[in-house]
Amino acid sequence: MTRYVIVGAGAIGVSLAVELGDRGHDVLLVARGATLEHLVTQPLSYHTHAGSREVRLRAVDLAADLGLRIGDIVVLAVKSQDLPTVAPAVAWRDVTDEHGDIRGIAAELIPVVTVQNGLDAERAATRWFDTVLGAVFLISAQHGRTGEVRVGGHPHLGGIIAGISSTRTPEFAEQALKTVATDVTEANFLITLASDIRSYKAAKIVHSVRNGLEVLAGDRRTKDTVGLALSAEARTVLAAAGFTPRDLADLVLDPAQTHFDEQSGVTPGRQSTWQSFARATPTNEVDYLNGEIALLSRLHAVPAPLNTRLQQLLSRATHTGGGLDLPGLETLTELLATASSQQQH
Ligand SMILES: NC(=O)c1ccc[n+]([C@@H]2O[C@H](COP(=O)([O-])OP(=O)(O)OC[C@H]3O[C@@H](n4cnc5c(N)ncnc54)[C@H](OP(=O)(O)O)[C@@H]3O)[C@@H](O)[C@H]2O)c1
Repeated sequence: MTRYVIVGAGAIGVSLAVELGDRGHDVLLVARGATLEHLVTQPLSYHTHAGSREVRLRAVDLAADLGLRIGDIVVLAVKSQDLPTVAPAVAWRDVTDEHGDIRGIAAELIPVVTVQNGLDAERAATRWFDTVLGAVFLISAQHGRTGEVRVGGHPHLGGIIAGISSTRTPEFAEQALKTVATDVTEANFLITLASDIRSYKAAKIVHSVRNGLEVLAGDRRTKDTVGLALSAEARTVLAAAGFTPRDLADLVLDPAQTHFDEQSGVTPGRQSTWQSFARATPTNEVDYLNGEIALLSRLHAVPAPLNTRLQQLLSRATHTGGGLDLPGLETLTELLATASSQQQH
């Protein structure tokens, strides 16, 4: 059975670790700080539609010997901003065969799976790894407090769209993708294989640019209006940058959205950006979501006032202590008319 090394013991990393571990896979989690301390000293509290339970998970620090072997698959389950730290810390490790003989380095011998929202992760990982499998996760998984993960999807825990992002060894990459697809299917995820994973990542970011609105104070109707405008702006920028997002209807296979289990304790709308602010983490993914649209708008000389402003609001707030119910929604509504007239040109 394939061994999985999952770097990042948050909402996605833990749900994969628990579910793959339940199906008999050897799973090693790489964690840090309070989460690592929790995992090595006590069980983690895991909640899904199937019930709540305490699970012991094997976790080590990134500096530890990961014991990488031929056939292992590494899942990079940190947020986009942490990927350039963890990828090189894994890439140059020795990889051994079944006799313990060193066969080469992880960069060449181990396929990595990137789970991040946004468009940066696959390119970033390809700086170090020969074979990168991109995955779009359609799941509502919450890591609200240290030592607790909740997943809201029912009957599947979530949907995963996966495909080869880059490789120099297509047969090796195809085999790795097939292995991941089989294993996550057995672990109760609904998998779709895609030959153009970039287009699905682009479709997902059209949704993800709205996530940050949940952190702002304000009424639901205004947030919905601004959210639609953020997505429309993102779509225009993506088109100018040469992306062809998949039809959003394709994303309706998101079981977490269509079959949501309230027993899991997951609150809809509290995506991973909201969770970062709730946990007062010193960084968040906004610079890779709204910030990705701002970056592409500058590179391709198309306006993106709404995404740029939301990035500014949230990233500045992070620098000054973060929090929830932050001010600023009205400065986005003021921009709606400008954004809409720019869309029409
Ligand atoms: N949650 C969802 O439902 C969901 C859905 C779709 C896509 N995604 C994407 O999946 C990715 C992961 O999201 P998530 O919600 O699972 O995030 P998360 O709960 O914040 O988990 C990421 C984990 O990685 C850890 N980490 C970061 N740098 C590390 C390092 N150097 N060594 C060891 N551990 C490290 C973090 O530790 P700290 O806690 O110390 O920061 C955190 O525990 C994101 O890109 C997100 O966009 C998430």
